[in-house]
Amino acid sequence: MKKIMILSGAGLSAESGIRTFRDHDGLWENHDVMKVCSTQGWIADRKSVTDFYNARRADIASKEPNHAHQVLARLEREYRGRMIHLTQNIDNMMEQAGAQEVVHLHGTLTDLRCEACLETFDVGYAAQEPGISCPHCGAKRIRHNVVMFGEAAPAYSHIYEAIRSSSLFVAIGTSGAVIDIVSIAKEFKHSVLIDPKRQETVSIYDKYTYIDEYFEHYIAKNAGDAMDELLAIIQTHMDGR
Ligand code: APR
Repeated sequence: MKKIMILSGAGLSAESGIRTFRDHDGLWENHDVMKVCSTQGWIADRKSVTDFYNARRADIASKEPNHAHQVLARLEREYRGRMIHLTQNIDNMMEQAGAQEVVHLHGTLTDLRCEACLETFDVGYAAQEPGISCPHCGAKRIRHNVVMFGEAAPAYSHIYEAIRSSSLFVAIGTSGAVIDIVSIAKEFKHSVLIDPKRQETVSIYDKYTYIDEYFEHYIAKNAGDAMDELLAIIQTHMDGR
């Protein structure tokens, strides 16, 4: 069966006004990632990390899904059961666009997680209140529901399942800095990369090449402008032409 695997990154939400991480004005330009997104940073200063995610949660409250989010949400409905969308993004723009099945590999900003029972619960765009208790077990050790560097990302198991069962790989708006999209693209005969900027990678010959050289199709555009071309490629692929 023909199936589409979509892996998206911060570039998918850039046109909604949500900052990426490694672009010139990216989040990691103004924040020390090891202080606000690592287990060491969390152990050293829980309050700073909580404040960081409270600020990012408040930031997305005023953001709207963009055209690419809308198109991908429609695709999910049109190809239900024949498409899996894995996102590295922790924002809720896909859900705001109507998507119901997106797999958040790095967690979700609008949820909090209990460190005692590991259950999550929705907090919307509100700041995590000091002293908040877990609605499931009553414990008071609550944290952001975001995967930090240095800890496991259990949802990554979906990546391997998606590679095994899909026939077309689409990477949208990710630098490949955390999830190696080149290795994934090598597993596919058919693949699409959407990114307005060519990102470098190192080949096995220790030679600098570009990530887009490992993809069948490279659309060097912003996600929103790339949707028509993406839909045409998907249509051709799914129709078996
Ligand atoms: N449309 C498509 N792609 C875009 C757009 C856009 N409008 N704007 C920027 N991009 C591209 C950039 O060129 C870059 O290749 O999106 C990519 C964003 O890369 P990163 O900022 O590294 O974000 P991402 O790949 O999602 O980071 C992966 O790193 O820090 C961790 O947990 C964090 O999930 C994140 C992970």
